[in-house]
Amino acid sequence: MPTIPFVASSSPAPHGGYPHSRLRRLRQAPWARELMAETQLTPSDLVLPLFIQEGEEPPTPIEALPKVFRYSITQAVAQARQAEALGIPMVALFPCVPSHKKSPSGQEAYNPNNLACQAIKAIKAACPNVGVMVDVALDLYTSHGHDGLLQQTPKGPIIANDATVQALCQQALCLAEAGADALGPSDMMDGRVGAIRSTLERFGFEDTLIVAYSAKYASALYGPYRAAVGSQGHLASGAAGASKATYQQHPANAKEALREGAQDVAEGADVLMVKPGTFYLDIIHTLSHTYPLPVWAYHVSGEYAMIEAAAERGWIDGPAVLHEALLSLKRAGAGAILCYGAVAVAQTLVKSH
Ligand code: PBG
Repeated sequence: MPTIPFVASSSPAPHGGYPHSRLRRLRQAPWARELMAETQLTPSDLVLPLFIQEGEEPPTPIEALPKVFRYSITQAVAQARQAEALGIPMVALFPCVPSHKKSPSGQEAYNPNNLACQAIKAIKAACPNVGVMVDVALDLYTSHGHDGLLQQTPKGPIIANDATVQALCQQALCLAEAGADALGPSDMMDGRVGAIRSTLERFGFEDTLIVAYSAKYASALYGPYRAAVGSQGHLASGAAGASKATYQQHPANAKEALREGAQDVAEGADVLMVKPGTFYLDIIHTLSHTYPLPVWAYHVSGEYAMIEAAAERGWIDGPAVLHEALLSLKRAGAGAILCYGAVAVAQTLVKSH
């Protein structure tokens, strides 16, 4: 045993600094890295979005969303079963409504027998323990592709807030009656969360969750989704006139997200959502540290597409980058994440544990 020379510590005590503190000690071995990890990603953090189409065709690939398909209701039920087996607690349904069922007012949105309602019923019947979430917004149903009702005014076309809120309440009620567990108002109209909450209360759906897309930005990252649900062409045709920027948030703004969040909390939201995700980590962080509500993130189609496209070229390791993206969302404060790659991510997580 060698004699250890006594070294007097200089004052002030240096223990907080190098060389006494060597941060790499905590990173030397896999066990240490596992143990020291501050954030964990698990299948129970994930929500699987499912695009649903009419009929019984084989799953239809979506060009800009590799490995994502449009499913028939029967196939969607199988997807929900698979999600459940992997520990994914919830699916989010996005019906691809055929053009001939779209209209300027989007009234197919509250047809109790529409594709969304049929899918909700089928999934809840087959897997009652899987949560089913559905968006409340008119974009899947309007011929112009907007989330709200288009109104002509002397100054040009606008999206009429209050008339839209009324339609959204009808849609919300219809989805709740079909058995949806959670409703996601993704339209960004003012006052819609409160109006939907009152409607749900009035008709006896006091247990239906409202996952409010509180901070939904007017983002350029929604392209692949719009192509998938067929709202892109309608919007791009310019026939609509009004811009989504008149209701979705300006990407430059953070304070505004606090106001949106405050309103949604006051109006009875159960969960706040930030969308897109990785470009808005500051917003997720702020909202989750400001409000005592769960904050979820939507890792949107463009975020997923960028990763998949680079991975297809062999430029990045797709699964590793996707995992890192989702981990960053959790680190910022997201309690759950909607992610198009949820199944593949969960499969990897299940395998590695
Ligand atoms: C609109 C809605 C959008 C998305 C889901 N619902 C955006 C939009 O078209 O403005 C985008 C989701 C994605 O890109 O993955 N209600």
